[in-house]
Amino acid sequence: MTPLIRLVKITKAYRPGLHPVTVLRGIDLEVAAGEFVAIMGPSGSGKSTLLYILGCLDRPTGGEYFLEGREVSHLKPDELAAVRNTKLGFVFQSFFLLPRLTALENAELPLLYSDVPAGERRRRALEVLELVGLGDRAGHLPAELSGGEMQRVAIARALVNRPPLLLADEPTGNLDRANSHLIMGIFRELHARQGLTLLMVTHDPEMAAYARRRLTLRDGEIVADETANEERRGE
Ligand SMILES: Nc1ncnc2c1ncn2[C@@H]1O[C@H](COP(=O)(O)OP(=O)(O)OP(=O)(O)O)[C@@H](O)[C@H]1O
Ligand SMILES: [Mg+2]
Repeated sequence: MTPLIRLVKITKAYRPGLHPVTVLRGIDLEVAAGEFVAIMGPSGSGKSTLLYILGCLDRPTGGEYFLEGREVSHLKPDELAAVRNTKLGFVFQSFFLLPRLTALENAELPLLYSDVPAGERRRRALEVLELVGLGDRAGHLPAELSGGEMQRVAIARALVNRPPLLLADEPTGNLDRANSHLIMGIFRELHARQGLTLLMVTHDPEMAAYARRRLTLRDGEIVADETANEERRGE
């Protein structure tokens, strides 16, 4: 079967001033549909850079990225936007909710760029809010929500387009332990019940333990790729 993600010798280099910085050094990776993968590694090892490339928010300098078998790293901006809208949800460490919109309106936002009619948009936004346990907070503004609730709204927003792939960059980085476990519980449910493919960057081994597969990056290379036994998962 075609893997959901296939990276072939992906590189990323920046040229700030005189000294080029190589951030990713030839990443080869395959992720099958339905996997839950944690990406770990020291600060500066290239985790966010890799996730942004996977999320089509950034382009690699070299190599190939096949998403569902289609090479996406060389697409034109509008084609890339279409891929992002239909295939990918992205969750960040800072939740990036619009402060003047309610939880429901924030969750609905990605659908404004689609041709889904207004009533259906509302219905789907409410559905994803309920999925993250916030059906009763739909009318709240971000300022009226806790950090954990804001992150759950951000997850709802990432899911409203029903993407097959969810990418999360330190989604619990700004949350306390209880809320972090709550978010991981939601990820585990989405993964188990809906077959969502999840790639999550985290510094926290406790959160990484929710994922079956763990990648470790060091200096822009994958230095470990471990798959846990079913019994060792989670908790
Ligand atoms: N626009 C840029 N120009 C130059 N260098 C950059 C740029 N963006 C990132 N880098 C460098 O790339 C390296 C990897 O950055 P990246 O954000 O991917 O690390 P990370 O593994 O996510 O780290 P952290 O755990 O701190 O979030 C860093 O050394 C960073 O300084
Ligand atoms: Mg990072």
